[in-house]
Amino acid sequence: MSNVAVIGAQWGDEGKGKIIDWLANRAEMVVRFQGGNNAGHTIVVGDKTYKLSLLPSGVIQGKRSIIGNGVVVDPWALLEEIARVGAAGLRVTPDTLVLAENAVLVLPIHRELDEVRESSNSVQRLGTTKRGIGPAYEDKVGRRALRVVDLKDPASLPAKIDRLLAHHNALRRGSGAEEIDAGALLEALKEIAPKILPYIGSSWRELDAARRAGKRILFEGAQAVLLDIDHGTYPYVTSSNTVAGQAAAGSGIGPRQIGYVLGITKSYTTRVGEGPFPTEQLNDIGEKLGARGNEFGTVTGRKRRCGWFDSVLVRQTTITGGIDGIALTKLDILDAFETIEVCVGYQLDDKVLDYLPADANEQARLTPVYETMDGWNSSTRGARSWAQLPANAIKYVRRIEELIGAPVALLSTSPDRDDTITVRDPFVG
Ligand code: GDP
Ligand code: IMO
Ligand code: MG
Repeated sequence: MSNVAVIGAQWGDEGKGKIIDWLANRAEMVVRFQGGNNAGHTIVVGDKTYKLSLLPSGVIQGKRSIIGNGVVVDPWALLEEIARVGAAGLRVTPDTLVLAENAVLVLPIHRELDEVRESSNSVQRLGTTKRGIGPAYEDKVGRRALRVVDLKDPASLPAKIDRLLAHHNALRRGSGAEEIDAGALLEALKEIAPKILPYIGSSWRELDAARRAGKRILFEGAQAVLLDIDHGTYPYVTSSNTVAGQAAAGSGIGPRQIGYVLGITKSYTTRVGEGPFPTEQLNDIGEKLGARGNEFGTVTGRKRRCGWFDSVLVRQTTITGGIDGIALTKLDILDAFETIEVCVGYQLDDKVLDYLPADANEQARLTPVYETMDGWNSSTRGARSWAQLPANAIKYVRRIEELIGAPVALLSTSPDRDDTITVRDPFVG
């Protein structure tokens, strides 16, 4: 029996929420370890659809859910989300949700700064979700952030706020923006503190107790390896590490406790926001993938960019992310294509590369090398066993395994929890 970490193997929105919800049934605890409410997971259970951002997807199965220290937490957004899912019939209480005391807070100043940088005339534009995630992580690394635990001790807040604003107000003075009023921020924090306090706990102690009791833990990654601050397409990335290694650091457990790493992988490729995308299809194919796959962001509603499956990238993220096996999702979206292209290399001048070069100038000059496969032109939607898959669909899946160097552990054929084929149970390893 082993614990499982789930991470995204592409640029996000691979269907992590659906797979985590499905796996949560086999776990006793679900832990988020990075990111914040920039994540958006749509989870379909029968006739109900849930949209989660900050809450671990384990809350749907009523599992003890931890927001680990590696997450940046907007407390207003958290309460709003708890109220929103509550209205949809999902009760989240301090018995089911624990918020790590050493997690960093996302404040209104972070959201505002993110928005200013994303304004259309800004040279800093990256296409972020404007949730303040980057600015909050900057303050964390700059050692001036406020943390969840600070809400417990209002008397300590003024000095901490002064330290934080010494940085932000200097920036604001420089850009001609109005300074932040320390008193107003203090009042806002004092007002929200009693509503957050009941959820505050210790991620590392929760996990240690679970481990000692032999409980199965599911680590829930947000975003994806190509958005990782180190291993992604920098600077068009998010501000946290999204690889499996972060599951340990971002929750307070040793790396050996992560037994199996499941990389969630879409059967084609999508990306939201700016940045390189070698197999992007700015044509009818891209439009068809987007329309069939309903590729609009959960958080921002933005249209996702679409393209063919890129085995070079997933081979690379399998290595950098530490992926043992993948869950291949949205196979059904490819049901209506005569032929399907898979990228197997990049032509760069007179060379063919089997990896994505780190240099943005080189990335821009890559031409994908495609292998053409026959489509299956029949429905795989809702398939729950291999036997229900057409031969060409099986060929496609097998070829992907070969190209990326990792086996398919799960296969997903619709948004619904139950339309999932188990090839190998990740918890058994
Ligand atoms: P996440 O951020 O990785 O959790 O993914 P999102 O929830 O943002 O986006 C994935 C979308 O695809 C959601 O709307 C899911 O309901 C949907 N989805 C997941 N798996 C499948 C699948 O196998 N087939 C289809 N058609 N939709 C899926
Ligand atoms: P889930 O968990 C897809 C992208 C943004 C932008 C970049 C930086 O649903 O897969 P940020 O707000 O994090 O500073 O934005 O990262 N991004 C995501 N793209 N899915 C996500 O999460 C994302 N979270 C951030 O679009 O390009
Ligand atoms: Mg998403």
